[in-house]
Amino acid sequence: MEIKKIAVLGAGQMGNGIAHVCAQAGYEVKMRDIDQKFIDNGLATIKKNLDRGVKKERMTQEEADTVLRRVQGVLDLKEAVKDADLVIEAIPEIVKLKLETWKEVDEAAPEHAILASNTSSISITQMAAVTKRPEKFIGMHFFNPVPVMGLVEIIKGQSTDDATVKVIEEVSHKVGKKTVLVNEAPGFAVNRLLVPALNEAVFAIQEGVATVEDMDLAIKLGLNWPMGPLTLLDFVGLDTALYISDYFVDEFKDSKYRAPALLRKMVRAGWLGRKSGKGFYDYSGEKPVPNKF
Ligand code: 3HC
Repeated sequence: MEIKKIAVLGAGQMGNGIAHVCAQAGYEVKMRDIDQKFIDNGLATIKKNLDRGVKKERMTQEEADTVLRRVQGVLDLKEAVKDADLVIEAIPEIVKLKLETWKEVDEAAPEHAILASNTSSISITQMAAVTKRPEKFIGMHFFNPVPVMGLVEIIKGQSTDDATVKVIEEVSHKVGKKTVLVNEAPGFAVNRLLVPALNEAVFAIQEGVATVEDMDLAIKLGLNWPMGPLTLLDFVGLDTALYISDYFVDEFKDSKYRAPALLRKMVRAGWLGRKSGKGFYDYSGEKPVPNKF
């Protein structure tokens, strides 16, 4: 089966990145969101990242314009998926919202279309079960920033068939990513390791082991991470990390995954990281300034 047309649901941080790499690989992309302002922001981000590529002489202006033209912003869900060969969903991590959306998509998308979720933790099998094509349902987990990060984690649900896995491996390779295939389990492979590690950094801050700045420096230089754990938490979003931790506790029934009280308190205060302007760092000035805890 050849994929030509891709519908990306969600124009946010992940959705616009996925739309970008798909269009750059030559696919026709419809990027859907529920409000025109989200679509406009998503398209503006793709344009900004393409312009960066032009400035660095990685592509010509003409190539960048062609890529951007391949992404069509769409408000109506049915319109977005009606002729798609592949639907990639990157909407908020709310189980009810995902299940409702997948039911609608299943009704409106062509029978042959593959359905892929970019969820960072929610069960692929649970989402597949609300559709009439669980064998064509799969997890396709990209990493932020999508144009830069080299991995797609492919997640097989209980009913996902091998033909679907093969197509998704091919699409992932075509958009320039390497893949790992994992069986469904909470957090798959990457977040299972990452989220407890990030939580541990917050426990250390909570206990006064080090300052935010020193904790980040220690891990950046000591382990050669590109970003320290607290910078990375601000980048990923504190609400997302908290959501995944709580989901892990529910699913594994194991308190070792519990979120630190400090993380929960910060989320309650609206300190969500970069996207809200404040997290472990304050982003209101020219440079991020570490907060004291
Ligand atoms: N969008 C597109 N491109 C971006 C970008 C963005 N948001 N941010 C940076 N880039 C590009 C830059 O243009 C630059 O390109 P070049 O090498 O061609 O010049 C390149 O990335 C490196 O950027 P910078 O030199 O500005 O800065 P850094 O060297 O610090 O790299 C980084 C930035 C790539 C974000 C790096 O710090 C990094 O890899 N951080 C860790 C990211 C990470 O761990 N992501 C996974 C998060 S977990 C996740 O997504 C899963 C979810 O389920 C929770």
